[in-house]
Amino acid sequence: MGVRLLPLAARRLSTMTRQLSPPAKAVLYDDHGPPDKVLRVAEVAPVEIGERDVCVRMLAAPINPSDLNRIEGVYPIRPPLPAAVAGYEGLAQVHALGSGDVDLSPGDWVIPSPPSFGTWQTYIVKPATAWHKNGATSIVGQCVIQLAKLHAIHTINIIRDRYSPSPFSTQPILDDHMPYSRPGSQQAKDKLIQLGADQVFTESQLNIKNIKSLLGALPEPALGLNCVGGSAASAVLKFLRQGGTMVTYGGMSKKPVTVSTSSFIFKDLSLRGFWLQKWMNSDKAEESRTMIDYLLDLVHEGKLKYEMELTPFSEFHLALDKALGKHGSRPKQVLKF
Ligand SMILES: NC(=O)c1ccc[n+]([C@@H]2O[C@H](COP(=O)([O-])OP(=O)(O)OC[C@H]3O[C@@H](n4cnc5c(N)ncnc54)[C@H](OP(=O)(O)O)[C@@H]3O)[C@@H](O)[C@H]2O)c1
Repeated sequence: MGVRLLPLAARRLSTMTRQLSPPAKAVLYDDHGPPDKVLRVAEVAPVEIGERDVCVRMLAAPINPSDLNRIEGVYPIRPPLPAAVAGYEGLAQVHALGSGDVDLSPGDWVIPSPPSFGTWQTYIVKPATAWHKNGATSIVGQCVIQLAKLHAIHTINIIRDRYSPSPFSTQPILDDHMPYSRPGSQQAKDKLIQLGADQVFTESQLNIKNIKSLLGALPEPALGLNCVGGSAASAVLKFLRQGGTMVTYGGMSKKPVTVSTSSFIFKDLSLRGFWLQKWMNSDKAEESRTMIDYLLDLVHEGKLKYEMELTPFSEFHLALDKALGKHGSRPKQVLKF
């Protein structure tokens, strides 16, 4: 991390002149709707850097499912319209500081903390308190597998089936039922096993009566994590042991979680939810920063890896199409500014 202190004289000078951010480019939307229809890339005018503000240059920002949901208008917290800048997470470098005393220096790498709107743009001006030194973003499933392995916890993982490409299809993929060019299921399984997964099943493998027979020597799981809903969530519930808990943190299939009456009565299962944003905005924000630093240390030590595809910001619409699944299953799309 290149930490450099701005010479004092330069700081004093900046109190006398009105400092502006460089002209920036941003991904904007004026209405909610399909991201590939409502998003536009546009120039944005320089803004004044206030006394306690920091102007950062974005280095990278992921295209997360929740970003797409915000643009669609189906996420509970959304930026005001029109001219909302998309994106919520990212990594930035301090470009310039206001004249006030802040605990940052030009060159520092920072992440928004708590995350905040508008990371899909080249320069951002915000109060210094909105940034946390150090930073990265992660892909939930792959991280859970690796963190569980580090803590000697077994994981049983469920993935979507991958179908072979149709030799006749030249169209991009538009929904789950069309023929598409995704990597094979075995390849996807092998990748997760390499990361530390104990078992990986495709959804279709779980269409059997005695799902627990698949566990082999592994103990029945106490905790299930669900980010899909529908039949995948039902499979998670079937794996759980008596008194187990399923935490739902996403709904990729856009299908509800359905629970049999017997799961409650005879298995006494508990269902919970988790929302990172609430945690990071709560009075436990300091706890979340400690957690971020712990995770970053693991990344630096090479113990936590995640697959991503860096795409230059100039090719934003290609990255968006990949994140929308139009090119099949792709690693997390990260915009490189
Ligand atoms: N609650 C929280 O605080 C919180 C925080 C972060 C993320 N999340 C949620 O966690 C989930 C994963 O986020 P991420 O950033 O790890 O995602 P990601 O890296 O972008 O990956 C998306 C995942 O969703 C799967 N998927 C996409 N469409 C699907 C569908 N129609 N049915 C079933 N699976 C589908 C993909 O499977 P394939 O490999 O088969 O394409 C892939 O595994 C999302 O639902 C996200 O909103 C929640």
